[in-house]
Amino acid sequence: MNLKHFYCILLAAFFSIQIFQTTVHGVDASSKLYIVYLGERNHNNPELVTASHHEKLTPLFRSKEEAVNSIVYSYKHGFSGFAAMLNEAQAQILSDMPDVISVTPSRKFAAHTTRSWDFLGLDYSSQSNALLQKGNYGEDIIIGIVDTGIWPESRSFEDIGYGPPPTQWSGTCQTSESFGASNCSNKIIGARWYASDLSSSELKGEYMSPRDLNGHGTHCASTAAGNLVSNTSFFGLAAGSVRGGAPRARLAIYKVCWGINTVCSDAGILGAIDDAINDGVHILSISIGGPNEIPGTLHAVAKGIIVVFSAGNNGPAPQSVQNNAPWVISVAASTIDRFFPTVITLGNGQKLVGQSIFVETRQSNTNNFTLLVDGWSCDNITLSKLNVTNKIVLCYDPSAVAKILPRNNFNEVVGNVFNAGGVGIIYAQYTVNIILPLRIPFALVDFEIANKIYFYISSTSIPQVKISSPHSIQGIQVLAPRVAAFSSRGPNPTFPGILKPDIAAPGVSILAAVNVGYEFKDGTSMACPHVTGIVALLKFVHPDWSPATIKSAIVTTASVFDSYGVQIEAEATPRKTADPFDYGGGHIDPNKAVDPGLVYDIDPNDYTKFFNCTLGPSDECDSYVGQLYQLNVPSIAVPNLKDTVSVWRTVTNVGPINSTYKAFVQAPAGINVFVEPKLLSFDSNNKKKIFKATFVTNRKVQGDYTFGSLTWSDGLNHSVRIPLAIRTIIQEFYADTS
Ligand SMILES: *[C@@H]1O[C@H](CO)[C@@H](O)[C@H](O)[C@H]1NC(C)=O
Ligand SMILES: *[C@@H]1O[C@H](CO)[C@@H](O)[C@H](O)[C@H]1NC(C)=O
Ligand SMILES: *[C@@H]1O[C@H](CO)[C@@H](O)[C@H](O)[C@H]1NC(C)=O
Ligand SMILES: *[C@@H]1O[C@H](CO)[C@@H](O)[C@H](O)[C@H]1NC(C)=O
Ligand SMILES: *[C@@H]1O[C@H](CO)[C@@H](O)[C@H](O)[C@H]1NC(C)=O
Ligand SMILES: *[C@@H]1O[C@H](CO)[C@@H](O)[C@H](O)[C@H]1NC(C)=O
Ligand SMILES: *[C@@H]1O[C@H](CO)[C@@H](O)[C@H](O)[C@H]1NC(C)=O
Ligand SMILES: *[C@@H]1O[C@H](CO)[C@@H](O)[C@H](O)[C@H]1NC(C)=O
Repeated sequence: MNLKHFYCILLAAFFSIQIFQTTVHGVDASSKLYIVYLGERNHNNPELVTASHHEKLTPLFRSKEEAVNSIVYSYKHGFSGFAAMLNEAQAQILSDMPDVISVTPSRKFAAHTTRSWDFLGLDYSSQSNALLQKGNYGEDIIIGIVDTGIWPESRSFEDIGYGPPPTQWSGTCQTSESFGASNCSNKIIGARWYASDLSSSELKGEYMSPRDLNGHGTHCASTAAGNLVSNTSFFGLAAGSVRGGAPRARLAIYKVCWGINTVCSDAGILGAIDDAINDGVHILSISIGGPNEIPGTLHAVAKGIIVVFSAGNNGPAPQSVQNNAPWVISVAASTIDRFFPTVITLGNGQKLVGQSIFVETRQSNTNNFTLLVDGWSCDNITLSKLNVTNKIVLCYDPSAVAKILPRNNFNEVVGNVFNAGGVGIIYAQYTVNIILPLRIPFALVDFEIANKIYFYISSTSIPQVKISSPHSIQGIQVLAPRVAAFSSRGPNPTFPGILKPDIAAPGVSILAAVNVGYEFKDGTSMACPHVTGIVALLKFVHPDWSPATIKSAIVTTASVFDSYGVQIEAEATPRKTADPFDYGGGHIDPNKAVDPGLVYDIDPNDYTKFFNCTLGPSDECDSYVGQLYQLNVPSIAVPNLKDTVSVWRTVTNVGPINSTYKAFVQAPAGINVFVEPKLLSFDSNNKKKIFKATFVTNRKVQGDYTFGSLTWSDGLNHSVRIPLAIRTIIQEFYADTS
């Protein structure tokens, strides 16, 4: 899911109120929903926390009752605060109170639903077997899914063979419309819903309960923790089994996104996080674009809950990455290799590989050569000037490169070609690896291959082509993984000193549960629960690891090479070698993450300091905010290198007790990197070591970001790699955003 318009997040006193035009008292027409954040809760009794909220608001209203009625959500479990209908004057008064940390308007946003497709059948993941067993399939790990709800009748959530919920669980099952008590079980151990601040038009057609109208939440939940379900198939193709990453984990459902347009609100998400902290989840999986809920996730992480977010679907534009706080894991989407590559054979014998996205053919074009015609953009007008009858049409419009989502017009193109009498389509675009239930041969190719086909058409009098059947997967090389074009990119627009995204995981053509069936969807929304499932397995193996340690283990062991040992590429125009702004540490490698050797851990207090400094300037923060790169994250991003900068990191040995690691640096272009010391020795008395990395620019011009890596290797089984992203600044006022 994806927030279309994200805003510059937080930075405290956000709303500029120069003149009080409204009366202070009461709810009036200008009132809107504000989130008032009060920090740690001071009472053990949640009811006392609520009472303190009422007390604080009452003087701003005509009566206590009116004050109480203005409150839409009271946050009292994981932290203290509330969401209330306030006018600007009331908001201003509250924000001036000394114990109020921040007052921010709650925002609603629409998620992209265009990425939610019905695709067809293949097994989405067979990786991570070793960790899967070590992690005991995620047994008794509780995963909170903050999304569109759940479809409890799916076979993926049957609770046969599950014992009662783990003892740390104290959540609840909110029964309501089409959601009875039996809808919670020993698999779906809890379910809540948050719709108080949404309008009836936003809720139109919805189940007013945790039941999932949209399908997105069910898909994510089954990807993270769905049971192993065998014998699923679609159109008879690619029958197989489907399962989640941690198939024995338990699910706690928090429905915060509603309606046809999938509206989610900050206030509702914050309510879900507040409850989830109290309910006892181990992990929160949030496939939602850019909510302004920074305080909630900070409290969750400080309590040891790992928070996994989707990075957004606004790539390949730079600075499009969302959910950028340093304490969460932000996940980019990649392609996987289990697809239906198709061989396109030209009349001259040249064989090219495309991606087939059709299920069955009505004609035998897969075996015979068919006439081929260049249909350019394949719009009606262009096609009407051509004779495409019984021909395969190349749809290759280089000007369409500007369109980020060319597949948005697949249906239109199919209709146009079909109506014009065509019998097949070769479609040029740069986001490959999707599958559609089409009934005519439809092959996706990249622009390079399209160009070859175009050249062939223009150089021969009777162009012909043959598109192989989609079943012929054997022996055909598909480069994977690749970072998907739509996956949001760095640099981090909110905190440039914190590298984002953190990691890439499969997010294209992911088969998972929707309603009682199984469908393919793609997006960083699908990548996020892959990481969630892996985190559940890691949490089982290492119950004492902090959220920062788990994130470090994932980032430092990620792969930057594809299945052929070639550097992972990123889909874009043009396609390029992926860099840390595409995939953070790289592509997730679960079996390595379980044994990372060294980790970059972080005391939650360091996050709090970071968080405090983002809320408002103070003396202490002036030096700190410019140096966010000193936070001990498993990456180094220096957005403003003038001459020289030294960055300190602390590594903790979680591998063999007596170990020695040596530093290896791939310096970013134009930057000299000096690491001190170059050797780190650990034993039973020395588990933590500090090192310094000094970056010296030798650029004489204003620079772009350049990338490198710093790897600590024990010469045996552990390579602890962090990405480097450094930008040289000559003149402070210059701002290059690429
Ligand atoms: C869920 O609850 C609804 C409404 O009570 C009921 O009709 C349905 O059978 C239940 N499903 C399951 C799996 O228990
Ligand atoms: C799989 O499903 C098909 C059709 O529904 C059925 O005929 C077959 O027996 C099933 N196989 C297994 C192993 O359950
Ligand atoms: C395809 O080719 C085979 C033999 O090469 C022929 O028998 C068949 O009729 C052809 N099919 C079509 C649709 O042209
Ligand atoms: C193209 O023509 C078909 C009928 O031939 C029609 O259904 C479709 O709406 C037309 N598309 C556009 C964009 O005009
Ligand atoms: C269109 O092309 C087909 C195949 O070459 C041919 O049989 C048909 O006569 C052509 N139609 C027109 C109107 O030229
Ligand atoms: C952050 O701010 C809160 C409230 O203003 C304060 O209690 C806390 O000590 C601060 N934490 C740090 C690490 O500065
Ligand atoms: C680590 O090295 C020390 C000193 O050489 C030795 O006494 C100890 O047994 C070693 N520990 C392990 C676990 O190898
Ligand atoms: C390295 O890994 C291999 C295979 O996992 C294992 O057999 C070997 O014992 C490991 N070596 C060390 C020094 O841990």
